[in-house]
Amino acid sequence: KEYLSNGEMKPWTGPCSEVLSPVFVRSGEELKRKLVGSFPVCTEKEAMEALDAAVNAYNNGRGEWPTMSVQNRITCVEQFTRKMVEKKEIVVKLIMWEIGKSYADSVKEFDRTVEYIHATIDALKDIDRDSSRFQIEQGIVAQVRRSPLGVVLCMGPFNYPLNETFTTLIPALIMGNTILFKPPKHGTLLHYPLLEAFRTCFPKGVVNTIYGRGHTIVPGLMQSGKINVLTLIGSSKVADELKKLHPKVNRLRAILGLDAKNAAIITKDADITLAVEETVLGALSFNGQRCTAIKIVFVHRSIAQLFLKTLAEAVEKLKFGMPWEKGVNLTPLPEPHKPAYLKECIEDAESKGAKVVNENGGIANESFVYPAIMYPVNSQMKLYREEQFGPVIPVVPFDDLEEPIQYLIDSTHGQQVSVFSNNPDVIASLIDPLVNQVSRVNINCQCQRGPDVFPFTGRKDSAEGTLSVVDALRSFSIRSLVAAKLNENNKA
Ligand code: G3H
Repeated sequence: KEYLSNGEMKPWTGPCSEVLSPVFVRSGEELKRKLVGSFPVCTEKEAMEALDAAVNAYNNGRGEWPTMSVQNRITCVEQFTRKMVEKKEIVVKLIMWEIGKSYADSVKEFDRTVEYIHATIDALKDIDRDSSRFQIEQGIVAQVRRSPLGVVLCMGPFNYPLNETFTTLIPALIMGNTILFKPPKHGTLLHYPLLEAFRTCFPKGVVNTIYGRGHTIVPGLMQSGKINVLTLIGSSKVADELKKLHPKVNRLRAILGLDAKNAAIITKDADITLAVEETVLGALSFNGQRCTAIKIVFVHRSIAQLFLKTLAEAVEKLKFGMPWEKGVNLTPLPEPHKPAYLKECIEDAESKGAKVVNENGGIANESFVYPAIMYPVNSQMKLYREEQFGPVIPVVPFDDLEEPIQYLIDSTHGQQVSVFSNNPDVIASLIDPLVNQVSRVNINCQCQRGPDVFPFTGRKDSAEGTLSVVDALRSFSIRSLVAAKLNENNKA
């Protein structure tokens, strides 16, 4: 019951919010969601104090952190990473309990985050080496630098509460910005073991955390006009609402990872076994709760029945279980409203002519939905356009490749697409039309963000700005110039 503000762990006496796990445990006769822990519900007052701490630590670019040498900032982040690794086991367990991610996937999330920090440090060393070079043009000698932007409000999502948060927070931090960090409700507690490391590895006020209800505390922060960068991985609706509150929205930099409705296109000459394997991974890893997941499948009508049969068999082999069990693929869902919402999508599709293709598909209880393959899905159904963010695979038959291309053109999303074909001419003919609709085209493989060094962005409502290792360092800084005229009177 503490929060980190202005370099101090402040004790909390106010109201708290409970994090209930998606996993149910028995309590006497009753089955109840496990209580993982509770966190302070900050009021607007505490949020504004934390903001002021970040503003003061930045001190108009004259604070200790933004003026510190890149090498020293790197040393602080390295020290933080060592302390973070010491906390691996507890952080991993909290990821597992808070969001129901399997233990194995929680370990992967932790490890890829640490790798990402190391890659960020290496990339910054390269950028810094580059910055120390001088360029001489037309009698002017210039040094290009990367300078920070100010105060960054950083908000992460529940599905990758560590990785998605740190792939924005760490580059923003290491570039000399100061941070105000609000974790998602499911994904707050796992940050607690790291607070002491933030407190001891960085100067006072450089990293500040706020917890609680976003709609209560975040609007005031935006309206203050003191936020220079908004970075959020979440919904485009929330991002748009928050941006509008900023008094100088045109001066606000936004680095956003937003909604997506990624499609897989299975052409008539696809290797069906491969297409199914990758579709299962793409659509159902972490129960389909990834912005990068495959959320709709277009299959050529001539192979649709074979594809559906193979897909249903593959889904049947997936193992549902508790997140700590070995080899488990499907786990309980953390969002309490999700099972009812997915049921509604399935019923809507059924009422308009689609069927659940696989046995047990769509069977649900309070925190679990057995994956449902829906066929044939058409444009009248919710599942055609809505981002279901869960274990339902809508499948649409097509006759002409122009149909899935037109779907992407008409879409408000533009993150990724996967194309499955064994015909090099078909692949070649699709790349240009597709790469102009989305920001990543995957050939004979699933949609995904990783490896995290790759650029991560999207078109339309799917993103603003670009993440990755180098791109993120660029996104959270400005290229500035120190220039001097070369002449005899210029003694400098
Ligand atoms: O939800 C988005 C995550 O960054 C997914 O990452 O696709 O590499 O698993 P991934």
